[in-house]
Amino acid sequence: MSKLNSGILGTGHSFPEGILTNADLERIVDTSDEWITTRTGIKQRRKAAPDEYTSQFAVRASRQAIARAGIDPADIDLILCATVTPDQILPSTGCLIQAELGAHKAAAMDIVAACSGFLYGLSLADAMIRGGQSEYALVIGAEILTRYVDYTDRSTCVLFGDGAGAAVVGAVESGRGILAAKIRSDGRYQDQLYAPGGGTKGGFSAETIARGDHFFKMKGNELFKIAVRSMADISREVLLEAGLTTEDVKLFIPHQANQRITDAVANKLNVDTSMVYSNIAMHGNTSSASIPIGLDECVTAGRVQKGDVILMASFGGGVTWGGVVVRW
Ligand code: UT7
Repeated sequence: MSKLNSGILGTGHSFPEGILTNADLERIVDTSDEWITTRTGIKQRRKAAPDEYTSQFAVRASRQAIARAGIDPADIDLILCATVTPDQILPSTGCLIQAELGAHKAAAMDIVAACSGFLYGLSLADAMIRGGQSEYALVIGAEILTRYVDYTDRSTCVLFGDGAGAAVVGAVESGRGILAAKIRSDGRYQDQLYAPGGGTKGGFSAETIARGDHFFKMKGNELFKIAVRSMADISREVLLEAGLTTEDVKLFIPHQANQRITDAVANKLNVDTSMVYSNIAMHGNTSSASIPIGLDECVTAGRVQKGDVILMASFGGGVTWGGVVVRW
């Protein structure tokens, strides 16, 4: 069978209008703009209104990506929505997005891989397209994390924000597109970032809600070290598989968890900081949405030219991590 390459044909992103600044957080918990800025690089994050839900932002980001890919929603045969904050438990957010877009030919599902979800989706879409099972895949990262943040826990509530990003993936000429993709996880670190309530194990009752079991809990210090190591290692692996080195990379889009993590990964990889994309100051950590939002911001700002090598790397709860190299 001839080996097709898959590539990104169009991107899009969407945010809620609401903004939560560090000054706003100073009024809610015992924190300061100085601490948040120096420890994380975050200045503000988007926050959805109580009546807004995840699929709304996913659909807006997807419509942009589909229009820029120059295809019709009816052409899409695979929808992979990465999210840990779905609209509802059943059906999947992917199916809700499918109905809204009118992408009736597609198989739709959610990917639960936390901050690595978008790269999990790209990797799966790439395999499905190269294997001949999909022609046009829509890969989305969409989150309303602020719904699951405990605004009495200063160690987590300052970090997370809301938003969605999307990409249409389809066949491209050989030598271009996704050159290498790898995804990994290690469930032994499940207690590093988790939400115990709401499922069949932790249950859901007035007591679990009063205890805040549905909120994210995080061991930030330990995650920090694993995040830096994993993102640097997987970046080297995918570059090696693509037959490239960091010198070939024109743009590095890491998951936006903390500016200090981004700087440490770039330093380990010896990538010039001018090649490293960062939007954490404006958006905080948007989990699965952070890489597709960053990618779309780079594309629309003209920062990506045909032939450029783009490296993307992620790390998140699970723990999960992934790396993808693309020749644009
Ligand atoms: O998205 C993928 C998964 N996420 C990550 O990979 C996140 C990884 N971790 C991190 O980004 C960082 O560990 C954090 C930003 C979460 C925390 O930064 P840190 O430099 O590791 O701080 P820390 O947890 O070691 O806390 C240092 C101090 C503590 O005070 P004491 O015990 O030294 O008196 C905290 O209580 O900072 C305190 N602190 C705060 N102070 C003001 C923690 N959060 C805050 C806050 N404002 N928001």
